[in-house]
Amino acid sequence: MFRADGLGYTYLDRYPALEDVSFQIRKGERIALLGANGSGKSTLLKILDGLVFPTAGELTAYGQPLTEESLADPEVNARFRSRVGIVFQNSDVQVFSATVREEIAFGCLQLGLSATETAARTADVLAMLEIEELTERTPFQLSGGQKKKVALASVLVMNPEVILFDEPTAALDPRTQHWLIDLIAQLGQAGKTVVLATHDLHTLADLTERAIIFGEDHRVLADTRTREILADRSRLIAANLIHDHDV
Ligand SMILES: Nc1ncnc2c1ncn2[C@@H]1O[C@H](COP(=O)(O)OP(=O)(O)OP(=O)(O)O)[C@@H](O)[C@H]1O
Ligand SMILES: [Mg+2]
Repeated sequence: MFRADGLGYTYLDRYPALEDVSFQIRKGERIALLGANGSGKSTLLKILDGLVFPTAGELTAYGQPLTEESLADPEVNARFRSRVGIVFQNSDVQVFSATVREEIAFGCLQLGLSATETAARTADVLAMLEIEELTERTPFQLSGGQKKKVALASVLVMNPEVILFDEPTAALDPRTQHWLIDLIAQLGQAGKTVVLATHDLHTLADLTERAIIFGEDHRVLADTRTREILADRSRLIAANLIHDHDV
C-alpha cells in the first residue's frame, strides 16, 4: 500500500523530523510507530495521509507517487481520501464543523455520496460509537474524549482501507481507552491496514504485529515484530521508550 525510499522531512529547512526512512506497508498489516517525543511519528503519519510531502526521498501509495502534484488531480485526491483516513493526536484540529452531524457527514459529501447514503452512514457510525446524543452539539460543547469519538466517527464513516492513528488513547478515560483499543483490534481483524503512533507499550502486542521504532536522530532504529521489540529492554531504553527505573 505504501513504499517509502530514503524519505526525509525537514520543517522550514531547519528542523529535521525524519531522516532516510525506508519501509513498505502491505495490505492488512497492523504497525506501531514508536519513538521518543519529537522523533518524527506524527510527521510520518501526516506524510502517509498526503497532508505534507517529503522533502527528501520518495513515497508511493498504491503503486503511484504520492506527491502534491498527484493529489492536485481531484479524481486522484478523492480516491486517495476515500481509502486512507487519519485520526489526529489533537482532535481540536480535526473537528471544526458547526455540528457533530455535519462534521461526520462532511467527508461523505466531499466524496460525492448522495444525501441519503450520507445520512444512513452517519446514523450507523453514530450508533456504533454510541454518540447519538451528541448529534446536534457544536464541537466546543464536547469534552476531549467526546471530541475524539467524533473525530473517529468522521473517519470511520468513510470506511477507509487504511487508518492512521496518532496516539489514539491519549487523554481518554480508562473505559473509553478500552473501548477504543477493542475497536482498533476489530478494525485490524476486519482486514483494515492500521498504522498507529503510540507511547503505550501495554496495548501494543494486542493491536500490532510489527513495530517501526524511530530514534531521536529521526532515523529508523528498528523495524521488527512487536513481540520481539517488547522483549528487548536495552533497545527500548535506547529509543527512550522505557526508562531505566521502570519495572
Ligand atoms: N510545525 C513544526 N515546525 C517546526 N518543527 C516541527 C513542527 N512540527 C514538528 N516539528 C519538529 O519535528 C520533529 C518531529 O516532530 P513530530 O511531531 O513528528 O514528533 P513525534 O514523534 O510525533 O513526537 P510526540 O511523541 O511528542 O508526539 C520534532 O523535532 C519537532 O520539534
Ligand atoms: Mg506526535
